[in-house]
This record gives sequence, C-alpha cells and structure tokens, in this order.
Amino acid sequence: MREYPAISLREIGYDPWSPAFVADPYPALARLRAGPAAIYDERTEQWLVSRHALVNALLRDRRLGRSYHHVATDAEWGRPDPPADEASFWRLLDIQMIDQEPPDHTRLRRLVSAAFTPRTVERLRPRIDEIATGLVDDARALGEFDLIADLLELLPVAVISELLGIPEADRARLRPWSGDMTLVFELNPSAEDRARAVAAGSEFEAYLRDLARERRRRPTGDLLSELALVAEAGDRLTEDELVGTAILLLNAGHEASVNGAANSWYALFREPAALAALRADHDLLPTAIEELLRFDTPAPMFERWVLQDIDIEGTRIPRGQELALQFAAANRDPNAFARADELVLDRDPNPYLSFGAGIHYCLGAPLAKAEFDIVFRRILERLPRLELVEEPTWKPRFILRGLAALLVRA
Ligand code: HEM
Repeated sequence: MREYPAISLREIGYDPWSPAFVADPYPALARLRAGPAAIYDERTEQWLVSRHALVNALLRDRRLGRSYHHVATDAEWGRPDPPADEASFWRLLDIQMIDQEPPDHTRLRRLVSAAFTPRTVERLRPRIDEIATGLVDDARALGEFDLIADLLELLPVAVISELLGIPEADRARLRPWSGDMTLVFELNPSAEDRARAVAAGSEFEAYLRDLARERRRRPTGDLLSELALVAEAGDRLTEDELVGTAILLLNAGHEASVNGAANSWYALFREPAALAALRADHDLLPTAIEELLRFDTPAPMFERWVLQDIDIEGTRIPRGQELALQFAAANRDPNAFARADELVLDRDPNPYLSFGAGIHYCLGAPLAKAEFDIVFRRILERLPRLELVEEPTWKPRFILRGLAALLVRA
C-alpha cells in the first residue's frame, strides 16, 4: 500500500468556514487529495474522501446511506434528538426522497420521476426557451445588471414553479425560503442560521400545505395537483410526504441550479479564451456545460452515513461514522481527468460527479442541463459583449457555494 504523509487540515488550508477557502477551495482540495484516502476532520466529526475513484465507488456503495433513520433511531446511533423547537423542521427534511433509502426512496422517486425524464424535459424546451428569451431581453434592457438576481435565478425558479403549479404572484417568496432553509446543510451551522432555517421551513410548509389542499379540491393539471390526487388516494403518498417532495423539488431546483449557472459564467469571464471559443461556436454548449459543472462544482460536498463497517484503503471506518464526499476535489482529480485544472470545453468523456451517482443521482439533471443549454445559448446570442463589471464576492457558504451577485454590462 502507498504511504501518504499525515496532514493537518488546517495547515493545508482546508477550512470551509474561511472566506479565502470558499473563494478558491481548489488548491487546498488538491493538497487534501494528495493525502491519505480518508482523513478525519475533528471539527465536523467526518471522514473526508476526495479522490474520484473512491467518491464514485462510495456513492454506489449500499453499506452507506444518506440517512440512518431506516436502520436506527437517533439514540441508537448515539446522536442527540433535535431540540423540540426544530423537531418538525427535521421531520420535514427526513421524509424527503433524498434522505430516504429503499423501499421508501424508490416509491417517492417513482412518483415524480416521469416529470423529469429526458423525454419530458425535451417537450418542455420550447416553453423554457420562451421564458429564457424574455428574461434575457429584460436584462439586456437594464444595460448594467446582476446576472444572478436579474436573470440566472429567475429561470430555474420560474420553470420549477410552473411545473409544480406555483402561482406567479407567489414566486418571489420561494427563493428566500429555499435560501434560508438550506442554511442548515452548511457545516456546523450557527444557532442563528438554524433559527432562520426553521422559520423559513415552517412558512414554506404552511404555504405548500394550503396550496396542495386547494389543488386537491380543484386540480389544475400540474405536478402538485397530480401529487395531491395521489395523496388523496392514500396508499402511495402521505400529505406530509407530498409537502416534503414539493419543498425538495423547489429547494433543489433553486439553489444548485442558480449557483451552477452563476459559477459557470464567472468561470467563463475569468477564461476569456474559453468564452471567445463558446461565442464563436454555440454547438460547444452541451459539452461546455458539463465541463463548467465539473470545473467549478456548485455543490462541492455531500455526506453519507456508514451503515456497515467499511475499509477505505486500509483505514477501517466503523458503522455510525460519517463520510464527507468531496465532489469538487474528485472533479479535479488528475487520475480521472487530463488537464484537470483547465477548462476544456469539448472534454469527452467527462466522468464528472456534480450530479452524484447511484440511487440518489440528481433527478433534476436533465432539466438543469436543458435550462443551462437554453439560457446560455440565448445569452451568447443576445448579449454578445456581456462583460464583468466588478469582481464578485462569495456567499459565506461551502455546501451550497455560490456568488452573492455577479454584476455585468450588456
Ligand atoms: C446544476 C444543478 C444541480 C446540481 C449540481 C444538482 C446536484 C445534485 C446532487 C449531487 C444530488 C445527489 C446528492 C447525493 O447523492 O447526496 C442531487 C439530488 C437531487 N436533485 Fe439535484 N442538482 C441540480 C439541479 C436540480 C434540479 C433543477 C432539480 C429539480 C427539479 C433537482 C432535484 C434533485 C432531487 C429531487 C434529488 C434527490 C434524488 C434522490 O434522492 O433520488 N436537482 N442533485
């Protein structure tokens, strides 16, 4: 077995709470990847795994789970119960498919998967294009604008809202709810962030519960109405699961997509040759989008619980421990990608892991890629001289790493 030097996470600069790390985590992630295959982080009580081959294999390993609640209670797992005022919030997250394992995961995913297949998404393209073109033209009229708030975040919010059937007048409330709710996914969230997340979760839940009941009484042909009718039949979906599913789709459809699109444009502005190549040949877009999602991974880390003892290159990790799979590090692994630190717009094959792998592989991947393809194409066509106005700042978040704003000029 190859010997790896013992490393100090602080010394190598792996510090998810530091603004400098969040702004550019890649040098520290490269040092992490060069160290032992699994490194314990005392600050989060997690084992960090960063090499591509391992992350890829562990995502498919059934000895690991996104949750342990299907095999043990918190007490049996040695974890404290959530505080009483957070209990219903955690339950709302717990019943979502992303935190379920088979058979419940299979049941919940099957109920919505038809709405997200590549074929269904293909049928949505004309409507997505109509929305995207309108948004690009509105933004162009502003001259100087925030590419995120004035354009990139509006498209995924509009598309997923339309799919679910969220009335247009209510949509402006959705992104703040998602933004606040997902604060608890950050590492060691503060008491203040937890409180904000719980408050947002309870408003979001109440809103969707009312809307779902309304849709059950008067279905409107959208996904929420369809799910409300399934829930009414009573055997395949409970009302809580319906609300949890709608929240998951809205949260997932907002946070990762918006960050992914904005990080991609920022990467292009920093690589003028790549941007020029894309402007000259829009047909590069399908491979370019996957490459941009590899190059600056919008959701850089996902966690897994160890359900049965495992061995990672000689390190035994017992049941009950938690792994932190470093997608962003895996996506820059030179053993998986030639010129791993370069943006290669026509990279093919591209075994990037930004949408995960295994049973929880991102349900929204075809939709996200279609949205990117359409809106990037319209931006390239209709805003051919788009340029950065000032260096952006990053939100103080690592798990959902994204820019606070991206000021541009048309
Ligand atoms: C660029 C945009 C996106 C990225 C990078 C992304 C990334 C991911 C990743 C990595 C996972 C798996 C997490 C894990 O294994 O622990 C996931 C799951 C999921 N994503 Fe996405 N996502 C994106 C967009 C979307 C969109 C637009 C939707 C919905 C409309 C969506 C819905 C979901 C759902 C429902 C799951 C859970 C699937 C399951 O548990 O079976 N995602 N996403």
